[in-house]
Amino acid sequence: MNKLTDAYTLNNGVEIPCIGFGTWQTPSGETAKNSVIAALKHGYRHIDTAAIYGNEESVGDGMKAGGISREEIFLTTKHWVSERGYEKTIAAAEASLKRLKTDYLDLYLIHWPAVEKADKNWKETNASTWRGFEKLYRDGKIRAIGVSNFLPEHLAALSETAEIRPTVNQIEFHPGYCQWDCVNWCREHDILVEAWSPLGCGRMLGDKTLKNIAEKYGKTVAQICIKFALQSGVLPLPKSTHEDRIASNTKVFDFMLSDEDMSVITAMPPSGMSGFYPEEAPADSL
Ligand code: A2P
Repeated sequence: MNKLTDAYTLNNGVEIPCIGFGTWQTPSGETAKNSVIAALKHGYRHIDTAAIYGNEESVGDGMKAGGISREEIFLTTKHWVSERGYEKTIAAAEASLKRLKTDYLDLYLIHWPAVEKADKNWKETNASTWRGFEKLYRDGKIRAIGVSNFLPEHLAALSETAEIRPTVNQIEFHPGYCQWDCVNWCREHDILVEAWSPLGCGRMLGDKTLKNIAEKYGKTVAQICIKFALQSGVLPLPKSTHEDRIASNTKVFDFMLSDEDMSVITAMPPSGMSGFYPEEAPADSL
């Protein structure tokens, strides 16, 4: 990957720009709108939001105000856990489209799997949500469908009934929390892994090992984390509400991490995770 618009190719042939602009925890209103405008200004052409983030309207406003045509932007949103099941899924997608002020999505993700601990019919619940996704895809409202926070067991169960394979699994991925088992499973099944919180929600920015590596390359720790994801074949979704950081997080194409430094980062001790474990999935709201 040599620039922001270089793309990974999903297993259905759709191209997805290699870095996405994250919006988790970005407040709706002017903050979300202006950060999307700044992201577009600094060259991002891939925006990631979710119904539960509560900022879809403002993300849509930012896309309209950013002066870039809809077709040039790759837009992802996610279906929340309260909308599981075929009918509710279709309605949830329509509501997201309306809030985002667009008539199609580039990627729609099941935000969280139904899990055994909370739902004894979890397999059927996920299967019926996925049937809604397949309908939306076949109707041309969505260019690609995928999942988020699915572990291999959830993906394997989904594949028992799915007619269309997920293209993407978006999981937490950053130095110190790489979920390699899940990443490798997805790789083997041609499912692109996207990294939410590639900076560990900002927590990794003070890490000593990363600071030493960053100094060596004359880069910031954030840039090292983003590059680490890219060189791992993972698609990072860094989030910021500050224009200088939004811009600086794109400056990752003028260096390569050596094999040795990739190994050092890969072997970093567990730093813990930033969200929820899939088996502890939130019930209805975050
Ligand atoms: P802010 O939005 O105030 O800029 P992640 O993408 O891993 O979830 O991390 C997001 C967090 O990291 C946010 O708190 C964001 O803060 C902060 N952040 C993003 N980019 C940078 C950067 N280049 N330098 C410092 N902090 C950053």
